[in-house]
Amino acid sequence: MIVDRQGRRFRNLRVSLTAACNYACTYCVPDGKRLVAAQDELSAEAMARGVAYLVEAAGIERVRVTGGEPLVSPKLETFLGSIATLGLDEISLTTNGQLLARKLPLLRAAGIRRLNVSLDTLDPDAFRRIARGGDLATVLDGMSQARACGMQIKVNMVPLRGQNFDQVLPLLEYCLAHGYELRFIELMRMGHLARDSNAFLQQFVSLEHLLQMIGEQYEYLQANAPVDATALRYQIPGQGYFGVIANESVPFCRTCSRLRLSSTGWLHGCLSSSNRHYIGDLLDKPRHQALPALQGLLVKALGDKQPVAFSGGATVMKIIGG
Ligand code: 5AD
Repeated sequence: MIVDRQGRRFRNLRVSLTAACNYACTYCVPDGKRLVAAQDELSAEAMARGVAYLVEAAGIERVRVTGGEPLVSPKLETFLGSIATLGLDEISLTTNGQLLARKLPLLRAAGIRRLNVSLDTLDPDAFRRIARGGDLATVLDGMSQARACGMQIKVNMVPLRGQNFDQVLPLLEYCLAHGYELRFIELMRMGHLARDSNAFLQQFVSLEHLLQMIGEQYEYLQANAPVDATALRYQIPGQGYFGVIANESVPFCRTCSRLRLSSTGWLHGCLSSSNRHYIGDLLDKPRHQALPALQGLLVKALGDKQPVAFSGGATVMKIIGG
């Protein structure tokens, strides 16, 4: 097992199945151009082999499938079918929900029981303005169908001043009423936001600000969360839970156990580092050749983690999917 000086190791792998997305969210793609799959994306089989090798070489226990938007990828079914045989503790998926209802049977068949759905507003006009694609009612319907067949749903919201800050309480109320756990994600300095600190500061909403706003409406208590969780978790007694991923206010790098694999075969040990390590060429090799080389790259990837706090990076979420 590869462990660093702070005792950190890779347990959770996020696999970005494709860079393609049917949205073009303002904070992710500032130029508004819809993302398409990269020319050199790996096949479903190669990516699944990558996961299998990483399970062995790094001790990966859980996999989250991301994108881009994973549900637009033609690789989804083959990939999920292959990784379902690896004996992972959990396979989950992050989606914008647009194709959720249609893909539910496939997700259930692959053993997925937990979904994160990105949803920044309940206002149809603001939705169109922020996501620049898709349809709000379709997302809400997809979530409700997923819940009806027993899936656990977390809703990811990135609160942005001037764009959807007025939606913090309406979304919380909606999620509590429907049995979804809302996760507020503090805006991260990624991609263009790492370069333009004015744009970042103008939109950033802090944990403190959020809790103050929620506290005016609800009584909440801090709840327990797993040691390597990135979210602070709160309970509103009798009504449910919500969380805050406070990457700026309460950094969680010390307990980070994440590793990311991009759709083009690059390993990222840290969202806040522009270092990445190519494993695409190892995936055609037999296990006895691939594993030692992979171990070397994993040591480097673990070394890319920040000691304490996220400092921002050139890496963009659209490629690596959160
Ligand atoms: N900061 C915080 N969250 C972001 N996401 C995308 N870009 C950023 C950013 N710069 C969110 C998406 C999705 C999750 C995977 O990450 O909204 O819910």
